[in-house]
Amino acid sequence: MTRIKDALDAVAEAIYEQKDYLTNLDAKTGDGDHGVNMSRGFAAVQEAVDEMADTTKPGPVLETIGRTLIENVGGAAGPLYGIAFVRAGQACDDDTRLCIKDIEKLLTAAIDAIQKRGRAAKGDKTMLDVLIPLRDCFLPENAEGKKLNDCLLDGLRAVNEGLQYTTTIAARKGRASLIGERGIGYEDPGAASSAVMYRALYRYLRY
Ligand SMILES: Nc1ncnc2c1ncn2[C@@H]1O[C@H](COP(=O)(O)OP(=O)(O)O)[C@@H](O)[C@H]1O
Ligand SMILES: [Mg+2]
Repeated sequence: MTRIKDALDAVAEAIYEQKDYLTNLDAKTGDGDHGVNMSRGFAAVQEAVDEMADTTKPGPVLETIGRTLIENVGGAAGPLYGIAFVRAGQACDDDTRLCIKDIEKLLTAAIDAIQKRGRAAKGDKTMLDVLIPLRDCFLPENAEGKKLNDCLLDGLRAVNEGLQYTTTIAARKGRASLIGERGIGYEDPGAASSAVMYRALYRYLRY
């Protein structure tokens, strides 16, 4: 099954396309390397996954993505995304599939990993302001009676709202916290890259 690799290619392409957008955002609130970092990371990821003998199981592919990001991306976001993918991969088993329950499980593992390492909470103006609302769409209380496609669409709305929310708050974590209130009005770069990745995944999964 090449499906996981195709989904990864869709995400990587979106990151390459949005490289300047992400870098320009980071230039406003940080040091202007986020798009460059993420593009370099995903190029290395595509190479690493290409070299895998078996890409049919999500666990090993996600772990490879994570380890490759950790090895190839500097800055704050690379290692955080890296550990998130590794832990999501480790949360997979032979029964893991594309369903509401498993998406919730993997996103929760990813969020827990990011929080354990980065000590940020919702409202600190980070990638978590997109990822936590996204995960919440797949929680049993919010997914009750819904089909996967409904939750994926809820997720798209949550991601867009979460990203918009980051323009209204000051950063309390990472480099952007140095400029604090002066960052209000700008999207958080990590929240933006999370949105770019999810939108690409959404477009891929819906068709
Ligand atoms: N402690 C943290 N927890 C979660 N996300 C964080 C944290 N610190 C930074 N980030 C995310 O990383 C992004 C910046 O990534 P990047 O520019 O690649 O790294 P750096 O800030 O080291 O240059 C921020 O926009 C934010 O979303
Ligand atoms: Mg940066």
